[in-house]
Amino acid sequence: MRLDNRLNAILNEIKAQRLADIGADHGKLIVSAVLTGRAETGIAVDISPQSLEKAKNLAKKYNVADRIEFLCSDGLEEVQGADCIVIAGMGANEIIKILSRKRIPDAVYITLPHQDTPYLRKYLFEENFFIKKDYIIKENQRYYSVIIFVEGKSNYSKEELFFGKNTPPSAAFEEYLYHRKEAIDNIISQAGSIDKISSALRAEKKEIERCLIKLKML
Ligand SMILES: C[S@@+](CC[C@H](N)C(=O)[O-])C[C@H]1O[C@@H](n2cnc3c(N)ncnc32)[C@H](O)[C@@H]1O
Repeated sequence: MRLDNRLNAILNEIKAQRLADIGADHGKLIVSAVLTGRAETGIAVDISPQSLEKAKNLAKKYNVADRIEFLCSDGLEEVQGADCIVIAGMGANEIIKILSRKRIPDAVYITLPHQDTPYLRKYLFEENFFIKKDYIIKENQRYYSVIIFVEGKSNYSKEELFFGKNTPPSAAFEEYLYHRKEAIDNIISQAGSIDKISSALRAEKKEIERCLIKLKML
């Protein structure tokens, strides 16, 4: 099955006895994980019955429906016994809601927010999650962060909340910094002065400059 860069990046991070895919939708990720042996078994979870039906049909097509449980449910509410949890393709606020309601002890979480990624990092920082990886990938002219974490002791620095750790280093990281720099410089030129943009944007610009200096020193 052909996966885009985004789903492929997630698939390559999975190593599970029992994988839970929250918001499984089309089912491509969970079916691929079971087919390739990256997961022995899986739980496809979706809040929408129509979406879950798509995942079920794909699993049947690839003859792996007997290795996947299908749950029409909200977030992790009914998930039990998973050692790896994927939450991808939702905004950071939805991911935060899911993690705030229930967690699975000792599980590895693989997340890929579609928007507001710094909010998710702030939440993980405040809630003492230990970040194993946080790197940027590019798909279809858009940039996404893959953030992998476990419960434990927080290891983000305040500066890393904007762009993550670039761990492992990825080529898309520098590209994304220039992309954001250009966007902020445009906002400044429209506003007429850097003093007229928000303090959050000014802080982001400072962090871009710090990251670029650090990259040039490597
Ligand atoms: C844009 S799709 C992403 C599909 C896939 N994970 C991906 O990244 O390509 C989002 C899916 O998440 C489901 N979803 C949204 N909130 C959810 C929640 N709280 N619990 C379970 N599923 C949810 C939606 O019904 C939808 O099928």
